[in-house]
Amino acid sequence: MSKKEQFFDHIKGGYACKGDYIVLGGAMLDGAAIADAHIQIPLKTLNRHGLIAGATGTGKTKTLQVITEQLSLKGIPSLVMDVKGDLSGVAKPGSENDFIRNRHSAMNLPYSTMGFPVELLTISEQNGVRLRATVSEFGPVLFSRILDLNDVQSGIMSIIFKYCDDHKLGLIDLKDIRKVIQYLTGEGKAELEKEYGAMSTASTGVILRKIIELEQQGAERFFGEESFDIRDLMRRDSNGNGYINIIRLTDIQDKPKLFSTFMLQLLAEVYNTMPEKGDQPKPELMIFIDEAHLIFNQASKVLLEQIETIVKLIRSKGVGVYFITQNPMDVPASVLAQLGLKVQHALRAFTANDRKDIKLTAENFPISEYYDTEETLTSLGTGEALVTALNEKGIPTPLAVLMVRAPMSRMDILTQEEIDMINSSSHLVTRYSRVIDPESAAEMLEKKIQAAEQKRSDAAARKADQKAGRAGTTTRRRTATHPVVKVLTSATFIRGVMGILTRAMK
Ligand SMILES: Nc1ncnc2c1ncn2[C@@H]1O[C@H](COP(=O)(O)OP(=O)(O)OP(=O)(O)O)[C@@H](O)[C@H]1O
Ligand SMILES: [Mg+2]
Repeated sequence: MSKKEQFFDHIKGGYACKGDYIVLGGAMLDGAAIADAHIQIPLKTLNRHGLIAGATGTGKTKTLQVITEQLSLKGIPSLVMDVKGDLSGVAKPGSENDFIRNRHSAMNLPYSTMGFPVELLTISEQNGVRLRATVSEFGPVLFSRILDLNDVQSGIMSIIFKYCDDHKLGLIDLKDIRKVIQYLTGEGKAELEKEYGAMSTASTGVILRKIIELEQQGAERFFGEESFDIRDLMRRDSNGNGYINIIRLTDIQDKPKLFSTFMLQLLAEVYNTMPEKGDQPKPELMIFIDEAHLIFNQASKVLLEQIETIVKLIRSKGVGVYFITQNPMDVPASVLAQLGLKVQHALRAFTANDRKDIKLTAENFPISEYYDTEETLTSLGTGEALVTALNEKGIPTPLAVLMVRAPMSRMDILTQEEIDMINSSSHLVTRYSRVIDPESAAEMLEKKIQAAEQKRSDAAARKADQKAGRAGTTTRRRTATHPVVKVLTSATFIRGVMGILTRAMK
């Protein structure tokens, strides 16, 4: 048996699937694709998370495009954080060229072009499906994280949320939380201290200042109603193809804290909304985070721990999370250790540090008698990658050099007209473009302040009555019964989740 035949059997055996799978491309040996040695990834282990890494321009985003396309064809929807804005082309058919034809004929893999069902989501002023969340949905833990509060200040935040829960004050946007703090340090101070204990004004001052900072980062666009229902991500078109939901994040690249908190909130919301699934033949939803170093670079230790925990837990909901980043060392080791599928494009050895990273990366891959991993890492061509996945039994597949199949859709962005077309035919855009300002904390507190004034003047009147020696009891009616403006269950639940996370971290 020749080395090539042995290799063919090695790959065929290592990547065999009993159940359904997607094909990422073909295996390569000594720089050439081996016909029919396809790299098949079982749908069953896709919820075991993954990583796509590689130096700039090596093909990470195209690999991501290929994976989302193949998932869509299997009816699996995905959610993609598109930081650079270069993924929208997936909505339109691509065009065939010699490069693609040659690659596909070498792999013996059919190629055709097609566009995929796409929703464009946004957390900014761009056109698209507006993604919003209420402050209540964030909950005190996560909200404190975005504000970067210390323990004492976070404690105060929990009291503030508790107060709002107890008094049915809906925290919708940043204006609400500001108003509540102002109230609780002014008019409502005595009431708060009686029920929940005192809050230091130094701390509340810091909190208020940080909320204003957050508003200046443009975060107020993101807080509010109508908050996004995660189930809208889980759609298929009339052909049964899964939707590729693209969150365009081009304008928050320079706001990593906002980005990472938004991400974590979204993951928590997904975790919260989806029922426990256990092992399933295929995932419910796949989440891809492009330019993931933005999350990890500046995230606090606690935030990192939360990401790590939620990544661990979300698997059982049938959700796979995939990180796309230049250097695999950008991803904390604790998260890296949880990733089942690794697609490693070429790395560049410019500096001593690069060489160290390459060595470490190579060590994280299974040993192969067919490749010198370290050497391969620096010599891979564009659209080629080292790959290892989990087979249906959850055991790592053999290391292979993968020639990534070409995207079926356009390898370029959409024009503005095409984007407008997608948005104007999306019913989600219409639904989430409504800005609702329900009667929330800010409005209700205004009423409360008025009621308190009433109470003061009542009391003054009573005192005057007593002074006048008139008998009789003036029963104080409780001030304003607050209508429940927002059912707080989902918020409370998320907080429950975050509570679980916090405990799990300890
Ligand atoms: N699977 C593929 N099939 C065909 N062409 C590919 C493939 N992968 C990459 N290419 C080619 O390589 C180019 C660069 O790929 P891509 O944009 O995915 O790189 P990247 O690693 O995401 O870069 P960056 O770090 O700058 O985001 C593409 O525009 C495309 O021409
Ligand atoms: Mg890219």
